[in-house]
Amino acid sequence: MYLILFQALGVASVIAVVYFILRPRGKSAESGSNPPSIDYKPNDDSSPASKSIWHANKEKAEDDALPDPKPLLEFDLKTAKTRDYIYVNKTLRYPYYQTMAHQPMEIENWIEISSDYEWYLSEKKKVIESEGKKVLDSLPENDFACQELMETVVDWLPKRYPTLFDRLLRFEEERSYDGIFNKITGERFEWLDGSAPSGCEALTIISRLTECDFLMAKERDDGHVYFTGGLVAFPGFYLLSEKIDKPMSVVHAPVPQFNEKLLMSVERTLKRMLPSAPFERSSWEIVDDLNFYWHNIALLPQGGKVGVDPGELYLRIDRQTFRKLPKSRGIIFGVHPLVRKLSSLRQSPLLPALLHKIHTESSRDLIVYKAAEAYEDALLPWLEQCIKDQIQSGLIDGTEKLADFREYGK
Ligand code: HEM
Repeated sequence: MYLILFQALGVASVIAVVYFILRPRGKSAESGSNPPSIDYKPNDDSSPASKSIWHANKEKAEDDALPDPKPLLEFDLKTAKTRDYIYVNKTLRYPYYQTMAHQPMEIENWIEISSDYEWYLSEKKKVIESEGKKVLDSLPENDFACQELMETVVDWLPKRYPTLFDRLLRFEEERSYDGIFNKITGERFEWLDGSAPSGCEALTIISRLTECDFLMAKERDDGHVYFTGGLVAFPGFYLLSEKIDKPMSVVHAPVPQFNEKLLMSVERTLKRMLPSAPFERSSWEIVDDLNFYWHNIALLPQGGKVGVDPGELYLRIDRQTFRKLPKSRGIIFGVHPLVRKLSSLRQSPLLPALLHKIHTESSRDLIVYKAAEAYEDALLPWLEQCIKDQIQSGLIDGTEKLADFREYGK
């Protein structure tokens, strides 16, 4: 009898021990490799987003690797579009406050490729050739992060876009090689395994692969985050060379309310960010040409006005992604500038009303920072006419809540 009980207890304890070792570990095991899902509810912009991201992040283990992106097997470059950032990422929002407005990022959305891919790459090449270190540079402390970033891009692109890129992995004469073949440009980049290019050479390779710019930052021993290099061919209105080696407070000095309202949360978020929990945000401005390197509007003298009709202006949205590289701990800030002519937004329900409200009712310093003084005298009456047209055609009735504009745009 005792023997049977003893044996049963023995079996039970073995089962208990095995279960204890193999059990799923709370939330981090449940959410596993998937970042938390994105919540597009309107109206929650005012919440301190940094808190939610931090709570999402801290549920993941430090060494929790990101999953591979799902492949786009049918991807057709001719018709390719990015997500519509007017509706994604809370880019345009009302009321418009200076907030971090960042969201967890699905790994699939790290780098997007559009039908304008070749245009972006050739513009970028011209800018890099003519501007050199003003747009592409790396401090010695950042060189390894450039290598890790390039290796990450080279690993990610063929997995996400197998119709556009081949990973070149081969073993020949007792040596192994790594690299990538870009099927669109016909360019091939290869190196001996273990000797991947680093620093500016790595950044130049990246510039031949994606539409995005990459700003890079690092936490230094003083506990602050510094701009340590990057590939910034399309800044629009500033230069990498003016910002490199500067802490976040100095980098963002021209941005109204940044140092008072955002600096602490931004630095804390960037330092705590885990490699397994990337995030994204977007910024917007209105520009008067497609010179992504340096817009005409940014060159106007004090009091100068843009020379094009409001419908010919562009809404430029900089879609921004943030990742932490696991080995170098480099902070990677990807920027993909996307533009839409304002005339193309005439039929988008509530958008003219939203742009009008943002320009007339937001804190004036934010709007002046966006160079609105150069276009608002012409833009505001134009938007008012668009609103009247939308009401007259029955597209809107004029009583809708602007904060809900995303619900009408889909
Ligand atoms: C969570 C992190 C960050 C947030 C929330 C943030 C926020 C902002 C905001 C609000 C602006 C003004 C443009 C806009 O309306 O968006 C801005 C501009 C800028 N940011 Fe950041 N930023 C972050 C991280 C970084 C990092 C890591 C870098 C550099 C490595 C950087 C470099 C810049 C630069 C160069 C500008 C243009 C400043 C100018 O007008 O001269 N930012 N940022």
